[in-house]
Amino acid sequence: MQIVLFGPPGAGKGTQAKFISEKFNVPHISTGDILRENVREGTALGKKAKVFMDNGALVPDELLIDLIRDRLQKPDTKKGFLLDGFPRTIAQAEALDPILDDINKNLDAVVNVDVGANELISRLSGRRTCRSCGATYNIKSNPPKVPGVCDQCGGELYQRADDTEAAIKHRIEVYQKQTQPLIDYYRKKGLLIDIDGEREIDEVRSDILKALERLQ
Ligand code: AP5
Ligand code: MG
Ligand code: ZN
Repeated sequence: MQIVLFGPPGAGKGTQAKFISEKFNVPHISTGDILRENVREGTALGKKAKVFMDNGALVPDELLIDLIRDRLQKPDTKKGFLLDGFPRTIAQAEALDPILDDINKNLDAVVNVDVGANELISRLSGRRTCRSCGATYNIKSNPPKVPGVCDQCGGELYQRADDTEAAIKHRIEVYQKQTQPLIDYYRKKGLLIDIDGEREIDEVRSDILKALERLQ
């Protein structure tokens, strides 16, 4: 299965990606996670990307297209993959087709997780992420058992640099201008599956898994 998980910042892409990749046994490829790892390790890509990310702007297309080309050529994508956070512009979507041709793959579905702006702001301002394993919590809707400590691995929970009020607002605007046009782009290709993401995590999960099982 080759799936794109699509949606605004805070829609729950990372949260749901975990369930989908486990269920269909495909690697979860989050461009945001890969970029943050590069920032942490101080690579050339990380140094270029950091300013854009901290402000909530998109990192330039060329960098993302090179990154995703390299990642999709790794052997673990033979069984399929789940893209989270890519493509995010029409230029990225157009660049993805020849990359997929090279590895003899097609997209099966683009899952569009829809959530309104007010709910996004509340989710992102309460998010906490594990420094060790990347698990995501929310101090309001999905708190860890012990504050500041990851349930799964005991790691330290932190607040992402782009989860400040100013960066959250900018990310939502950037999404509306540059990323939302992809909804029509993929709807026209017959790939779009709309999911109401403004419900409990388990309800959203069950809807997504049901829709994807129908494709198999
Ligand atoms: P990225 O890491 O992709 O961030 P994003 O798109 O802003 O999305 P988030 O990760 O913030 O949200 P999410 O949908 O994963 O939600 P989550 O599951 O965590 O990108 C970061 C940056 O990298 C970009 O701004 C850009 O600079 C750069 N970048 C990345 N890809 C790029 C690309 N292709 N091109 C250019 N630049 C790129 O959930 C959020 C919170 O809500 C959590 O606290 C969670 O517990 C909670 N929650 C989840 N589901 C529910 C629910 N159903 N009910 C209540 N709470 C919920
Ligand atoms: Mg995410
Ligand atoms: Zn952890």
